Amino acid sequence: MSPFLILLFLSVESISLSHADNVDLSSGNTTHLHFYLHDTLSGPNPTAIPVVQGSTRYKGSGPFGFGTIIVIDDVLTEGPSLTTDAIGRAQGFYTMASLTGSELLLSINILLTEGEFNGSTVAVLGRDNLFDSVRELPVIGGSGKFRMARGYTLFKTYSANASTGDVVLEVDLYVTDISPNIDELIPSRNDTTSNGDTPSSSSSTSASDGNKCLHLDIVMIFVVSCFIAKYLLVII
Ligand SMILES: *[C@@H]1O[C@H](CO)[C@@H](O)[C@H](O)[C@H]1NC(C)=O
Ligand SMILES: *[C@@H]1O[C@H](CO)[C@@H](O)[C@H](O)[C@H]1NC(C)=O
Ligand SMILES: *[C@@H]1O[C@H](CO)[C@@H](O)[C@H](O)[C@H]1NC(C)=O
Ligand SMILES: *[C@@H]1O[C@H](CO)[C@@H](O)[C@H](O)[C@H]1NC(C)=O
Repeated sequence: MSPFLILLFLSVESISLSHADNVDLSSGNTTHLHFYLHDTLSGPNPTAIPVVQGSTRYKGSGPFGFGTIIVIDDVLTEGPSLTTDAIGRAQGFYTMASLTGSELLLSINILLTEGEFNGSTVAVLGRDNLFDSVRELPVIGGSGKFRMARGYTLFKTYSANASTGDVVLEVDLYVTDISPNIDELIPSRNDTTSNGDTPSSSSSTSASDGNKCLHLDIVMIFVVSCFIAKYLLVII
């Protein structure tokens, strides 16, 4: 058994007795999604692939090696079993980012492929200490229904297979500031690209923004010129 797998095995702290909730959309301004992430390194179709072997110079990062990078396109399911309905993918990478501990930098896009959020993504970037029973990682943004999203995720190791290295994570995702009228509040990409038919109000505001920028540029050039002139005078 590789040391890599031992660390994964050690990371199973608490097997959570979770009720396999379906996607739960709570009322109000926070959306709560509950799902399972299958980080599969083994078998004929692994979805997590080590692409960079890190340095073992520092023992702190454990058998992974500091700087190891694993790229993932992991499936997300409603329940802890792979046979339950798939609701999306976790696409990105994680890297061993601590000289002294088993901490990952995790950087993924959570893409939803079912229901009202089909096609929308949530970007998660944060520190993931494998030895913590619950890890909080920030949501730093999103697209589609999650445009302008802020929030956080809670990761728990649901199960890990010591012989294969495969891990199932239970994920709770909380996203706030999703406005039902978000599409009206923020012009879509359509508005800026296809304005041949009707010159929209957004194009006129961008024009005046352009004028403001031009004005600022002139002021900046003037200020910088003054500085240069002053500097030259001092030298002379
Ligand atoms: C929360 O949602 C309600 C109802 O959709 C809305 O009126 C309110 O403005 C929202 N609050 C925030 C802070 O987005
Ligand atoms: C999700 O969106 C994709 C792309 O638009 C589409 O092909 C697929 O059928 C959709 N799936 C569901 C379940 O709506
Ligand atoms: C770990 O994976 C192996 C190979 O797929 C399997 O035979 C074994 O039952 C698994 N162990 C656990 C505890 O799931
Ligand atoms: C872009 O605009 C066209 C025409 O108004 C519309 O049919 C289409 O759904 C829009 N696409 C997006 C991505 O908003």
